Amino acid sequence: MEKPQNRVFSGVQPTGNLHLGNYLGAIRNFVGLQQTHECIYCVVDMHAITVWQDPKELAANTREVAAAYIAAGIDPSTNIIFNQSKVAAHAELAWILNCVARIGWLNRMTQFKDKAGKDREKASVGLYAYPILMAADILVYRATHVPVGDDQKQHLELARDTAQKFNNDFGAQDFFPLPEPLIMGPATRVMSLRDGTKKMSKSDPSDYSRITMRDSADDIAKKIRKAQTDPDALPETVEGLQGRPGADNLVGIYAALAGMTKAEVLAQYGGQQFSAFKPALADLAVEKLSPITDEMKRLMADPAYIDNVLEKGAVRARALADPVIARVREIVGFI
Ligand code: TYM
Repeated sequence: MEKPQNRVFSGVQPTGNLHLGNYLGAIRNFVGLQQTHECIYCVVDMHAITVWQDPKELAANTREVAAAYIAAGIDPSTNIIFNQSKVAAHAELAWILNCVARIGWLNRMTQFKDKAGKDREKASVGLYAYPILMAADILVYRATHVPVGDDQKQHLELARDTAQKFNNDFGAQDFFPLPEPLIMGPATRVMSLRDGTKKMSKSDPSDYSRITMRDSADDIAKKIRKAQTDPDALPETVEGLQGRPGADNLVGIYAALAGMTKAEVLAQYGGQQFSAFKPALADLAVEKLSPITDEMKRLMADPAYIDNVLEKGAVRARALADPVIARVREIVGFI
């Protein structure tokens, strides 16, 4: 079976509140990779249900993530866009990998600890096993590269360990490539606008903690105006951002939106007050995000179009995954 050389896989959960972190840490990087790689971008609805989702909202949020992919510039005719639950091979491989990966590995996952909170006994079994499904997502296409934000690094390491153990256990040298994480740009970890030490997240109870892909220009400006900072002027150098998480975060966001480095942003704004920097950031954010938000709205008004993209993508995804899962069955000894 031929081995893909440059195959990208990544996914975003349809859990609502798609935000600037998802865009700058992941989706925006997906767009550029189209030039150099064969890309498969998934809306991971099976991951979403590890935490309760209202079925109607899940469907709407699935279409919203697909719309965000397309609006951001991913071309569904050259790349594959689909939702995970349409391709059964993900679940099938996940079961097999559940029997390869070790409980000890899962016990180290910090995201499970964060998401399960204090009462771990009440978390779903799916939330615990989640990283194995994520490994299956990637490996069922034998993908070589996985663009993600910084928070997915540990899950990617587990995917590599699982691939390696499968290859070793079954004497299937090199069957699964060890997928490389691509953690790119100055905004791999966008922080909450309310607390620069916490990650921007879909589940933060405060709407002011995040800029979402639904926000109007006014919302964006208001949220940036209220973003937590400190009374000092912006530093002249990147080192000067140390110990100033709110400032560091806003400079990182500016850099990512403008396609600059943090050093370049500080060369321009170092020494200035936030009262000058925040309006400039708000203008830039509106300039970059509003066209995407508007296009998402337009696409969302035509759910039949989005459903068609997802269905066509699923057909192409199955054509790639089916031979891999067939070979896995043989390797494992299923008849
Ligand atoms: P999810 O849905 O939480 O996030 C989607 C992508 O956005 C990135 N991200 C961030 N980047 C920068 N700053 C932030 N504050 C921020 N918050 C989120 C995430 O790193 C991610 O790249 N487990 C994954 C989905 C998944 C997946 C996969 C990814 C399922 N299977 C296979 C890659 C390959 C997740 O929950 O992402």
